Amino acid sequence: TPTELIRNFSIIAHIDHGKSTLADRLIQTTGALSAREMTEQVLDNMDIEKERGITIKAQTVRLNYKAKDGKTYVLNLMDTPGHVDFAYEVSRSLAACEGSLLVVDASQGVEAQTLANVYQAIDANHEIVPVLNKIDLPAAEPERVKQQIEDVIGLDASDAVEISAKTGLNIEAVLEALVTRLPPPKGDETAPLKAMLVDSWYDSYLGVIILVRVRDGRLRKGQRVRMMSTGAVHTIDQVGTFSPKLTPQADLGPGEIGYITAAIKTVADCNVGDTITDDRAPATEPLPGFKPSIPVVWCGLYPVDADDFEKLRDSLAKLRLNDASFHYEAETSAALGFGFRCGFLGLLHLEIIQERLSREFDLDLIATAPSVVYRLYKTSGEMMELHNPADMPDGSVIDHIEEPWIRATIMVPDDYLGAVLTLCNERRGQQVDLTYVGNRAMAVYRLPLNEVVFDFYDRLKSVSRGYASFDYQMDDYVEGDLVKISILVNQEPVDALAFIAHRSVADTRGRAICAKLKDLIPRQLFKIAIQAAIGGRVIARETLGALSKDVTAKCYGGDISRKRKLLEKQKEGKKRMRQFGKVEIPQTAFLAALKMD
Ligand code: GTP
Repeated sequence: TPTELIRNFSIIAHIDHGKSTLADRLIQTTGALSAREMTEQVLDNMDIEKERGITIKAQTVRLNYKAKDGKTYVLNLMDTPGHVDFAYEVSRSLAACEGSLLVVDASQGVEAQTLANVYQAIDANHEIVPVLNKIDLPAAEPERVKQQIEDVIGLDASDAVEISAKTGLNIEAVLEALVTRLPPPKGDETAPLKAMLVDSWYDSYLGVIILVRVRDGRLRKGQRVRMMSTGAVHTIDQVGTFSPKLTPQADLGPGEIGYITAAIKTVADCNVGDTITDDRAPATEPLPGFKPSIPVVWCGLYPVDADDFEKLRDSLAKLRLNDASFHYEAETSAALGFGFRCGFLGLLHLEIIQERLSREFDLDLIATAPSVVYRLYKTSGEMMELHNPADMPDGSVIDHIEEPWIRATIMVPDDYLGAVLTLCNERRGQQVDLTYVGNRAMAVYRLPLNEVVFDFYDRLKSVSRGYASFDYQMDDYVEGDLVKISILVNQEPVDALAFIAHRSVADTRGRAICAKLKDLIPRQLFKIAIQAAIGGRVIARETLGALSKDVTAKCYGGDISRKRKLLEKQKEGKKRMRQFGKVEIPQTAFLAALKMD
């Protein structure tokens, strides 16, 4: 296809503003899929994505649209991940397009995530077409939202397209806007091949499928291509486009978006943002902007049943096959036995992997509290990255510790601003900016990531009754007065409960955890001391009284089947416990204990 007839675009929107519904409408209107093939929300094709209504992996579809000028255009719609954890993947998807549809729910207005993504699109030099969705709703206020787009983002919204993705109103106008308002891609057919690796995933028949955007040159079957970041060379088996089904083509030229397969075994060899070039006539310079993906949040995953260790290892390997940003390494814990230290791009990513392990692989797991990556500078001058609080060395060898900070943007209705600012301050936040847009406030804060990883989203949602929206990016590493807090049950340190916190909050958190554990650990036949300590100094203590209780005592010996049921229930409960010395701690205690409130 000549480049004048190609338009590459993405849709940027806040969660729930209607991105998937609009994408489905565009697919339906251009007839890329028959009604029968059209399942609800084609682009979100993983179960968990569907259930949670979020988009994780970028997906693409090629649409053929006969415009009012009589010409038939190729419109490549590239779906982008809808969550902050995947910001880098979003930036690569945007770099593969020339323009975006900015979808804003006309009854809600601009949200924090809309802003973050739209700024990324502006950075990528996109032509942006504002689209006001859900104008069928009685609460829709298109004029107010247009004004807001102009005030907050600084985009001209006078010719925003007003649509209802749900009823199908004005979808044609969106297609026309794509053709007339977005620029065609530029590229040099005769220059050495440069194609960007936008995404990749594993297919059990074809091996790894790579989503590419060609800049210069051509990709064809049989060509030997080189990944510029690693130097790895592969021979292309198949080249094609997404209809959204894989559709083989002879080749892909400048401006085109499609896929290649090359008998690649694992996505770990396919770095998002990498440049693919011709091995025999390579480009001299890669495309700009490549960054290797680095996990920022780590936690330990342990099988509840030690016999499941091999199964866990196999399952992690399978997940990694399809998710290069997920990392894991074997680890042992005195408290939890054999398991793995796992690294994630963020909290949602962590939650998704945990959920898939339990749902798809049927694994019963204990997860330790998530931790950020600390940089520990020893007195010897050596720097070590700390992924696990339990590995923190003795205080005497530590010169200082640095922790990662983020820059967060929070949008919230005025009524809840006070509560949100209090929350940010409690979490050691530093206000950078506070501005108003109508009756909504936009607060920009610098926050230590370790104050955010555990329950910041949940707390933010609860103090704002669900009205606050949140977005963040990694900022820098800063020295902090950080200490390791150990939890001792019956004088024995439980390594899986150790955590790192700022000294100013250590006492409060130590006390809170001891109090929680007191409620979470069932009473036993003897008294149990629950303590929090920094080094050898105990900072909090609770005592759990002894209790001797026969679970069957209430059955008066009469109903034997009821008695058996109770005993079985108790046995079942035991499987979910871990033994510490003489004390059993239920699995739920591990996560619940570290939730702050
Ligand atoms: P993520 O995948 O989470 O990013 O959400 P999304 O932006 O893709 O939103 P989605 O398309 O899933 O729509 C969210 C909800 O809004 C769904 O319940 C839709 O049915 C509804 N919705 C989408 N478009 C419209 C519209 O034009 N009018 C009305 N009334 N509802 C709509």
